[in-house]
This record gives sequence, C-alpha cells and structure tokens, in this order.
Amino acid sequence: MQRIPVVLDVDTGVDDACALLLAALHPGLDLRAVTCVGGNAPLADVVRNTLLVLETAGRTDVPVGVGASRPLLEQPVDARHVHGSDGMADLGMPAPTLEPDARIAVDLLRDTVLAAAEAGEPVTLVPLAPMTNIALLARVHPEAFARIGRIFFMGGGANVSNATAAAEFNVFHDPEAAAVVLDACAAHEVPVAMYGLDVFYDPKVTDADVEALRAVDTPVARLAADLISFHHRRFANDGATIGDAGAVAMLLSPGAVRTERRPVRVELSGTWTRGRTIVDTRDWSGDMAHDPHGVSPAMVEVALEIDGPRIARLWLDTVAGEVR
Ligand code: RIB
Ligand code: CA
Repeated sequence: MQRIPVVLDVDTGVDDACALLLAALHPGLDLRAVTCVGGNAPLADVVRNTLLVLETAGRTDVPVGVGASRPLLEQPVDARHVHGSDGMADLGMPAPTLEPDARIAVDLLRDTVLAAAEAGEPVTLVPLAPMTNIALLARVHPEAFARIGRIFFMGGGANVSNATAAAEFNVFHDPEAAAVVLDACAAHEVPVAMYGLDVFYDPKVTDADVEALRAVDTPVARLAADLISFHHRRFANDGATIGDAGAVAMLLSPGAVRTERRPVRVELSGTWTRGRTIVDTRDWSGDMAHDPHGVSPAMVEVALEIDGPRIARLWLDTVAGEVR
C-alpha cells in the first residue's frame, strides 16, 4: 500500500485524540509530525494530551512541535465544556514521558514539509484546530508553505455552524488565520479541502461499538472507548461523532465523501457573522460585473455529504487493531 505522508496540527481535544490514533496507526498513513495550538484547550493541555495519545499508540518516533498559545488577534477561548477540564475527557492519565521537539511548530512544519517535498513525496497537512500555526507558517516560511502537497482542514461549514449561529469553532477562534491560509493556498496553488460541519457529525460511534472496543482490551482500544464514552455521557446520547478523525479518514476513503469545488472566503467583520466561511454556491461563470466583491481566489473542495457509517467503521477497525 502506498502510504500518504501526513502532518497533523491539533488542539487535542477528545476528537483530535481520535484523529491522532487513526493517523498514528493506519498503515495507509505515514505520520511525519504533529504540531500543537491552543484551541479546544489551553496550549499546555493540548501538548500533554497529544504526547499521551502518541505514547499510547506506541508512536514515540513522531516529533511534536509546540505552537501558538493564542489566535493572531482574538483573545483565546476554549471548549473545555465540551472536552473536559483537561481537554481530553478527564481520564486521569499519568503525565507523558515523551517530550516535545526542540523546534517550535512553524520550524518543525518547515523542516518536515521541505524534507518531504525534496524526497518527491509532498505532505498532506491536516489542520484540525484554529489555523494560527498554519498562517504563521505562510508568513514566516512562505517557501515551505508553497511546497505543501495539499491541505485538508477541519473547519467552517457551508450550511451548519456551532460556536455562533454563523460560525464554526476553529474558524471563529482565529478568523484571520483561516483567511491568511486560504489566501496563501490560492497564491501558492496549494490544493485545499474543507471538512466542515456539513459532514462532521455524521460518522458516529454507538454504545455497542464502545462495548466491542472494550472487549479488544488493548491500551489503544481502551483509550478510544474512553474518549467516545465520555461524549456519550456528556451529551447523554448513544452515538458520538468521531469529529476531527473524519477529516483524516477522508484521506483514506475519498470515495466516502462528496465534495464540490467552490470559492470560499472568511467573514472577518460582521456584527453576528465573524468567522463564517462564505461558500459561494452561485454559478459564478456568468456576468460578475455587478458583484463588487468578485469571486474568491481560494477554490476549495468543500465536503458536503459523507457516508458516515463507512468512515466510522474505518476508524473503529483501526483502533481495534484490525487494520495493519
Ligand atoms: O467545531 C468542531 C470542533 O471540535 C473543532 O474544534 C474541531 O476541530 C473539533 O475539535
Ligand atoms: Ca480540533
């Protein structure tokens, strides 16, 4: 199997942890590095959680870079009401023995992207968090940004929102960063796909799936079961989304997701709409003379429909150790 070189940027985060397990363990992916940013939890918690997940997966070879603790302009907010007070389900895990890489996130990203590009196997960058680190990469190391193979980010939504009535959490948290990244993708011709809220909630894991994972009884399966059952308890349901892990699964199973190539902009002002991703669904091939804004230069593959059960099964089989 041809392995896809990937780098994840995370704010771990219960569902970032699910995504890390998939990226660390699936034989179709070659996880080259992980970078951390403040988001779902404060940066120190994100780093600890990320190291714990990689250690549990036996992937102590993967370098972890520490990145931005806050957005470019906004004050940091977090989502510990969703992810637990430690950002990762309050499982009481011991401190990790693994240490972060000596390089800060933008330097680790630069080195990883350039090394892969020079070896003729450009990386797929998967931001699963506010895109502060990625925007900084575009500004600090534009030559490296230009050599990213493609970007698959979790964020935004064409028709669905969560942080506000108009915006999704990752983009709302750092709208300027998301705008910088989309502009840089257009300027450097880096292909970009958006795994947003239109599909995010569909790949679900049930109570019965969690029980099956518990029966596997490996450290990875136990962690995976604990992460999902935390959300079952917190939201009193029996079907929790694998969230960010779906964006990683989309790399492995592109046929399970229907996308449309659409111009996308990020709303940076607006009284009620800051942080909204404006997905242009018009037939913009016509006369644009009367649109003062024109068409966004950032053309994005926007995920609009997903085969949720297929994506959830891919994740379950991987964390159960059935995919090697
Ligand atoms: O908007 C969904 C949130 O949950 C994002 O932070 C996403 O990355 C996930 O962690
Ligand atoms: Ca996340």
